[in-house]
Amino acid sequence: MGKGRASPDRPAETVRGASAAGISLVRHLSGGYFLMTLDVPVSFSAAVPGQFVMVRPPGRYPLLARPISIHDCRRVGRAARIDLLVREAGEGTRALGALRRGDRVGIWGPLGKGFSDAAAKRRVLVAGGRGIAPMWFLARRLFDAARADRPAIDLFYGARSSDELHYVDEFRAIGVKVHIATDDGSRGYKGMVTGLLRDKLGVKTRPPRHKKKEPAATQLGMFDPAPVPPPAPAATVEKAPPPVFCACGPMPMLRAVHDVAAALGAICEVSLESRMACGIGVCLGCAHETAEGGLMHVCKDGPVVDSRVVFGSGVQGGTGG
Ligand SMILES: Cc1cc2nc3c(=O)[nH]c(=O)nc-3n(C[C@H](O)[C@H](O)[C@H](O)COP(=O)(O)OP(=O)(O)OC[C@H]3O[C@@H](n4cnc5c(N)ncnc54)[C@H](O)[C@@H]3O)c2cc1C
Ligand code: FES
Repeated sequence: MGKGRASPDRPAETVRGASAAGISLVRHLSGGYFLMTLDVPVSFSAAVPGQFVMVRPPGRYPLLARPISIHDCRRVGRAARIDLLVREAGEGTRALGALRRGDRVGIWGPLGKGFSDAAAKRRVLVAGGRGIAPMWFLARRLFDAARADRPAIDLFYGARSSDELHYVDEFRAIGVKVHIATDDGSRGYKGMVTGLLRDKLGVKTRPPRHKKKEPAATQLGMFDPAPVPPPAPAATVEKAPPPVFCACGPMPMLRAVHDVAAALGAICEVSLESRMACGIGVCLGCAHETAEGGLMHVCKDGPVVDSRVVFGSGVQGGTGG
């Protein structure tokens, strides 16, 4: 989008580098999610997993763009195409979900810092709800055929209910081992994904929250379709080099994943969420406290950070998760 006046049908052009992107696909999915594919300038093909875009529907409202992770990205000729996986949460995401093929949105990006490309034999991805969005792009990149250091990937994926789970078959098809948890037990482990994670890795980072013990993951037979192996003893996990953890989801989940990683002496990268207005470090609206009492800006310093930046070096235990 070049320079020009904002109009009710065109996004305000207050951000340098903002573009108008054509929608080539909107597919509504179960659980209030939709997938949107956008035709974007070729510069977007430099995106790395964990980065996001600011996207705004045409018209007067909502005034502010919304931050959305890049779910997938590919080069198409001299341009690029990105996918966004969005859960309708309020006015902004509902307005985006109401758009159709051929409509245009205002967009700028790719923005922020993504997941690191550090070599690791094993990656553990943990996604809660819409936190699954960047994990597809990350898994695809890690499995890139050109990579000599292709890691083993386990995805721990939690949602409120089975209708909010997306792309499970696609993850499995590319070789990711998927472990599912739902709050209502409609699919996989019944309970929080971090309970499943601790159970599966044999890590105890906190006392049980209820008198009733969480059922062992393997008692529930949730690792379909293969027969369930007995849980790996903690000693075996400790002997192997620890995996790199990558997590995206609600803050209590990120904290709990950090605790598991810290207990294993592993690196953990978390993708933070914050309300954002500009996405480029100008409005200072996304300030987030660091573990040392300083301030970071999620859009510029994140959204993906080493979990120690926000949670410190220790294991807290006892909250969230
Ligand atoms: C870096 C980043 C990447 C994101 N990627 C995705 C994605 O891939 N898919 C997706 O569906 N959503 C994603 N989100 C969240 C998305 O931006 C919010 O859901 C959206 O801004 C809500 O706007 P709304 O107008 O629809 O809802 P609003 O009416 O503004 O809010 C609806 C509800 O969501 C809460 N909320 C709004 N914004 C946020 C936020 N940023 N973090 C936490 N809670 C919020 C509000 O408090 C309210 O309860 C991402 C957020 C960030 C910061
Ligand atoms: S969203 Fe404006 S500074 Fe981060």
